[in-house]
Amino acid sequence: MPADLDPSDKAKAVAARRALDYVQDGMRIGLGTGSTANFMVRGLGEMIRRDGLRVTGVPTSDRTAKLAAECGIPLATLDELRWLDLTIDGADEFDGDLNLIKGGGGALLQEKIVATASDMMVVITDPAKKVEHLGAFPLPVEVIPFGWQTTKGLIEESLVGADVTGRTVTLRQGGDAPFRTDEGNLILDLHLRRIDNPNQLALALNQIPGVVENGLFLDICDVVVIGAADGAVELHDSLAGTVTQERVDLAREENIFRD
Ligand code: A5P
Repeated sequence: MPADLDPSDKAKAVAARRALDYVQDGMRIGLGTGSTANFMVRGLGEMIRRDGLRVTGVPTSDRTAKLAAECGIPLATLDELRWLDLTIDGADEFDGDLNLIKGGGGALLQEKIVATASDMMVVITDPAKKVEHLGAFPLPVEVIPFGWQTTKGLIEESLVGADVTGRTVTLRQGGDAPFRTDEGNLILDLHLRRIDNPNQLALALNQIPGVVENGLFLDICDVVVIGAADGAVELHDSLAGTVTQERVDLAREENIFRD
């Protein structure tokens, strides 16, 4: 593990390292997006170079596709592979049922399609993202640009009857202009503070014309790997119904997460 990583990056690298233990030769793997997933992509590239691992990756964003190609990971589209063995991705929040908020990086649409098309989804994170109730992180909702202000109004109306604490909706900016997703869509961030019924909210949002997808990942994630800077790992496995404490040997990881 490079000594110059800050503690937050070390925690992400530790989670990524442990998650890569789920990878087996020949797998088709969904490659998540974000700063945590980047450590996983680099680690996977190193396993291909160092161990001769043979896998095919399906990236969830243009950014991840570029990094994965630089790391020497053979890539395919989801249309070519149709179904994947494993997806490893980050998250913005997760609760005790392993439900997630994702889309802080704006890649929620491809991330949700890829994770849903995978036999297993492993989420890699640091301890700060664990919450009692989802909603402190603003919920990203991807909308098409046509009529987006009308769509925003309909979302605000739907929030009046929803089981949430806050109801402010903002258009995400990317510099001087509205942020655009890889599909050319816009992101509305819903500042809800606390979501008491995520299933109901996810259904209501996706029924609104103009909404493409929302960032609630419900019953999709199987395992959450929480890394800490000192190499400690907490593994929440919903398939096994277990929470286990482990350690990653930092001394062995000198090269694998180097930028
Ligand atoms: C990308 O759209 C997101 O879903 C990311 O997976 C999420 O925001 C986590 O990103 P970080 O690992 O950078 O915190």
